[in-house]
Amino acid sequence: MEQSKLWQKGIVYQIYPRSFADSNGDGIGDIPGIISKLDYLKSLGISILWLSPVYPTPNADFGYDISDYMGINPEFGTMDDFDRLIKEAKKRGIRIVMDLVVNHTSDEHPWFKASKDANSPYHEYYIYKKGPRPGVPPNNWTSNFGGPAWEYVPEIDEWYLHLFSKKQPDLNWRSEKVIEEVEKVLRFWLDRGVYGFRCDVINQIYKESFEDGKWKPWLIGQERYLMKEGNHAILKRLHDDVFAHYDCMTVGETYNVDFKNARRFMDGELDMVFQFDTMNADKVIVPIFVTKRWHKKFKKTLSDWEEQVNWNAVYLENHDQKRSVSRFGSKTKHDLSAKMLATLLLTLKGTPFIYQGEEIGMEDYPLFKKKEYKDPVNFWLYGLLRKFHFSDKQCLRFVNNMNRDHARTPMQWDDGPAAGFSSNQATWLPVNPNYKKYNVKAEEANPDSVLSYYRKLIKLRSSDEVLVLGSYEKMDTKSSIFAYYRLYGGKMHFVLLNLTDRRVTLPKAIREMKGKVLLSNYEGAGFTYKKFLRPYESLIVDLSE
Ligand code: GLC
Ligand code: CA
Repeated sequence: MEQSKLWQKGIVYQIYPRSFADSNGDGIGDIPGIISKLDYLKSLGISILWLSPVYPTPNADFGYDISDYMGINPEFGTMDDFDRLIKEAKKRGIRIVMDLVVNHTSDEHPWFKASKDANSPYHEYYIYKKGPRPGVPPNNWTSNFGGPAWEYVPEIDEWYLHLFSKKQPDLNWRSEKVIEEVEKVLRFWLDRGVYGFRCDVINQIYKESFEDGKWKPWLIGQERYLMKEGNHAILKRLHDDVFAHYDCMTVGETYNVDFKNARRFMDGELDMVFQFDTMNADKVIVPIFVTKRWHKKFKKTLSDWEEQVNWNAVYLENHDQKRSVSRFGSKTKHDLSAKMLATLLLTLKGTPFIYQGEEIGMEDYPLFKKKEYKDPVNFWLYGLLRKFHFSDKQCLRFVNNMNRDHARTPMQWDDGPAAGFSSNQATWLPVNPNYKKYNVKAEEANPDSVLSYYRKLIKLRSSDEVLVLGSYEKMDTKSSIFAYYRLYGGKMHFVLLNLTDRRVTLPKAIREMKGKVLLSNYEGAGFTYKKFLRPYESLIVDLSE
């Protein structure tokens, strides 16, 4: 494993700072809170921490709207706290990765404020266009957060583009000045000792043309700006000018990326990309409709990506997705299903990204009420559905299917007030009522818990070059079973997962295999003598002679 890079042999843990640990009792997580949990993270065995944005922000999108790229959100602490975090993490063999949000800034960023004057040098930092007629935006594109993607500025009779909320104006990447500003930002953090960046919606920064988009029920205009030549050129430039000169990693959030573009991104632009196909496995037409019959697509997308690119950024949840155990696992067989999903996450070829709380099996919040919503997307969606005369109950149900607040409830540390997240019971989002059952303290004390299983699994993966470096080879099976080999240096491991809550019969080829079980989520399980897999059963088997 000597020759592999830290981001290949290491495991990434994503922190959503607002919800991780609150040190000063204001109900909001912060950097000193993160520092206080570094020993826990070290004991888990992770080596890279990706922090969702920690920069100053008016919180229109909880940090994904940045008003100063070279500062720290005062709610989270100071630059001294951040420097201390880098230092304390390094002491424990952990490196920090920042979130780089440069498709857009906040509308409260000084660049944007200045840009509203047509004669200002900052005007070109953003994408302003005239409308065809008074009151009509430049084209029909819609925003990810609802409504048209353009906002009118009466002072200059121009519209600016915002692919997210109107408080997140898109930067103009055709401007040389914007490129230079961003390069300055990158160097600023890399020189402070940061280990790299997770690049937010990075495959849409270059808008190739501004013609109308094809009509779709969701997000019109994407074909004009997703993964264009100009996009690749910019990332290549950032790589050559900056990233190539540091020991660092980059992972792109690349919405709807295809294999071809993913391979291009990974050829001298970025180290890895997050694909979205798996996250769409349970979606039907638009993201508010979901199906329980996702198994086939889920498996196929993961498997195809393993075959099609050299190295994946493997994830099953993050701050934008519902909790994986609630989505692809089970409430009644919670621990078994969470462990099965963990096995998948840590044995595919690629870098595993664990999202805070995933390692203790945190679940979706029981149906959010409207007054509990924080994510702006929820309010827009709820309002839209109401216009179509859905009842309050129906609206809540639909919003629930894509509600990003689920993954953002406070981390559950113990069974005390506010789950040990804060000394203040008035946390910014409510604590999930299941915290007495699922929390770090209780699970540390229980050798059969999801957390204890994660520890074993991480230990196994970190010391096993077959699981890190081995090639991936799928075995064709029915969709309830996910089975694959990992091959390296003459050694062969076999991973066998039951994706369902039912007993499934094993094909003969598997029944006849002989090998040593390295890890199982049913204690003492072997498969050689059995005809079936139990619900959510997962096995890692060494088939080497
Ligand atoms: C990414 C982030 C998401 C954010 C959006 C706009 O998808 O993960 O949280 O709302 O970009 O920055
Ligand atoms: Ca705080």
